[in-house]
Amino acid sequence: MALAIEAVNLVKEFGGFRAVDGVNLRVEEGVIFGLLGPNGAGKSTTIRMILGLLKPTSGYVRVFGIDVERNRREVLRITGYMPQHFSLYEDLTVEENMRLYASLFGLKGGEAEERIRELMDEFVLWEFRNRLAGKLSGGMKQRLALAVALLHRPKLLVVDEPTAGVDPPLRRYFWEKFRELKRRGVTILVTTHYMDEAENCDRIALMSRGRVAAEGTPLQIKRLAFGGDLVELVVEGDPRPALDGYGARLVEFEGDGSYSRIRLLVPDASEALVPLTKMLEQRGVKVVRAYPLPVSLEDAFIRLTTGR
Ligand SMILES: Nc1ncnc2c1ncn2[C@@H]1O[C@H](COP(=O)(O)OP(=O)(O)OP(=O)(O)O)[C@@H](O)[C@H]1O
Ligand SMILES: [Mg+2]
Repeated sequence: MALAIEAVNLVKEFGGFRAVDGVNLRVEEGVIFGLLGPNGAGKSTTIRMILGLLKPTSGYVRVFGIDVERNRREVLRITGYMPQHFSLYEDLTVEENMRLYASLFGLKGGEAEERIRELMDEFVLWEFRNRLAGKLSGGMKQRLALAVALLHRPKLLVVDEPTAGVDPPLRRYFWEKFRELKRRGVTILVTTHYMDEAENCDRIALMSRGRVAAEGTPLQIKRLAFGGDLVELVVEGDPRPALDGYGARLVEFEGDGSYSRIRLLVPDASEALVPLTKMLEQRGVKVVRAYPLPVSLEDAFIRLTTGR
């Protein structure tokens, strides 16, 4: 599998402060990869080094095998970037901004006009084409910024908090776009503070204090945070003696003598529930209900970044 991004031992120091402290990332081509982490974790700094906008103190990045420091122009040609803060010209109109960036990306004449028109339609910007970018609403600014990032049909799209301050319908629209781009083979690196959005990522790297604290699929991250999957059972009586010596850790118990509700930590909920129920029944415990307990990525995130 080709790597869209390979970051090796990336370090960035500002004065004596290490904002990025030895980050390793491998992002496969064609995936939606989420970079998560609390404020100040080093996400934007990492992104800027990946794009060649900031020189690493040490370490290096390859984008589709191209060394970013040595071939910055080539990398910029195949990457689209939507920065965390609106960075287009506020005193130019929507259309003028698109024209300007189209020419910076090397799009010419009819090709540029066609692509601008296409993106204006796609992102519902046509009717606002003569409005100054600085006068757009927050959501419209984000739509324009994404349209501009896509002008030159990049193979890698890097979006830094694209949905910050965006209303729910537009957030959903953005994610539909990301999935559509993925279907067309575009690799996407996205940062977000919305954990429901992060669930949509194929893989996630969780950053904390300049380091990658965890990396994997959303399911793997949750398992890592909790040491397994949680299952909940409602049973008759007290099942605790029957659980003795069985490979599932009891993490919560609530019982009134006649019924109990228990929570267990197991390596894999989908594999554990049937044998667990069977075992309890064999030991004379009647199981009323047994189900996997969904944990949110938010719980995992808080646990991994704060230890709580
Ligand atoms: N140019 C700079 N000079 C000095 N310090 C900086 C600079 N850029 C970033 N930092 C510091 O580096 C740390 C990481 O910042 P960064 O913007 O990468 O975090 P982030 O994970 O993107 O946070 P957020 O979620 O708030 O966007 C912060 O402590 C920030 O203050
Ligand atoms: Mg940031």
